[in-house]
Order: sequence, then structure tokens, then C-alpha cells
Amino acid sequence: MKINFILNKEAVSIDVDPMKRLLDVLREDFGLMGSKEGCGEGECGLCTVIYDNKPVTSCILNAIHADNKEILTAEGVAEEPLGKLLIECFDETNAVQCGICFPGFLVSSYHYLLTDGEPVLEKIKTALSGNICRCTGYKKIFESVLLACQRKKSGEA
Ligand code: FES
Ligand code: FES
Repeated sequence: MKINFILNKEAVSIDVDPMKRLLDVLREDFGLMGSKEGCGEGECGLCTVIYDNKPVTSCILNAIHADNKEILTAEGVAEEPLGKLLIECFDETNAVQCGICFPGFLVSSYHYLLTDGEPVLEKIKTALSGNICRCTGYKKIFESVLLACQRKKSGEA
């Protein structure tokens, strides 16, 4: 089946099994390896993408769900000014250890920064509650997003 959608701001078209998981389409058909597979059940957040302006786990979507939709992956987020700000803050606070969870956190944090962005720790924790990190105590991750929110608010970024 032909599926047409906007991927990282570009119109794309692909002939694919409509039931193929979106996560696999992104990785195998488009070579976008930022979205990772963890649980495969929508629980860990490793495969999070922005799907029609909302963070969604791509392992529970099928190719057909992408038809006529807009999808931004971690690679696309990394090209956005707010994505670059987040990467800078993750880097400065040494929030990333093994890095497996990082693309998912980046996407969810980007959505928070874009849609709310208040530098309030509890709100940040709620926004990132769908993302699991097996390495850290989350403290540095939350701190880095808080820093990005503060910089955005103060107009530094
Ligand atoms: S692999 Fe998609 S949520 Fe865990
Ligand atoms: S840094 Fe390793 S899982 Fe988060």
C-alpha cells in the first residue's frame, strides 16, 4: 500500500505493508535509527516520535497510521532550534550515560518545551513520565530539561 506522509518536514511516499510497525518503517525503510526498540509495547518511550504534534511511541503504531500525518523523529528534532538547545543542555549537565534512552527523552522534552516549557520540575517530570532510563536516577535528565526551559524563558535561546 502506498503511504504518504510528512517525515521530518519533508513529504515522503512509501510502498509498504500497512501493518508494518511505524518504528520498523522509520528504521528499516528510512534509515532513521534514532528511534530505538526497547519493550515493543508502548511502555519504555525509546521509540517516541512526534506524531501529529503529540509524543507517541512508534512501536504501537502501524505504517497505515502514518498516512497523511506529520511525523518528527529524534533526527528531525535535533535540527530544530529547541532541539539544539536541549542537546546543548543535556551535554552541559552530563545527563546522558549509555545514550539508548536519549532520543526518546529528546523528543518528549522537545514537545514539552514547544507546548509549555515552564521551568517547573514537577511539570517536566510529568511530561517525561513515559520515558524510562535504565542508567540514571533521572535527576540530571530533569535538570537538563529545566535548564533548557529556563534558557528559553529568559530569551537566552
Ligand atoms: S519500544 Fe516503543 S515504547 Fe518501548
Ligand atoms: S542513559 Fe542509558 S538508558 Fe538512559
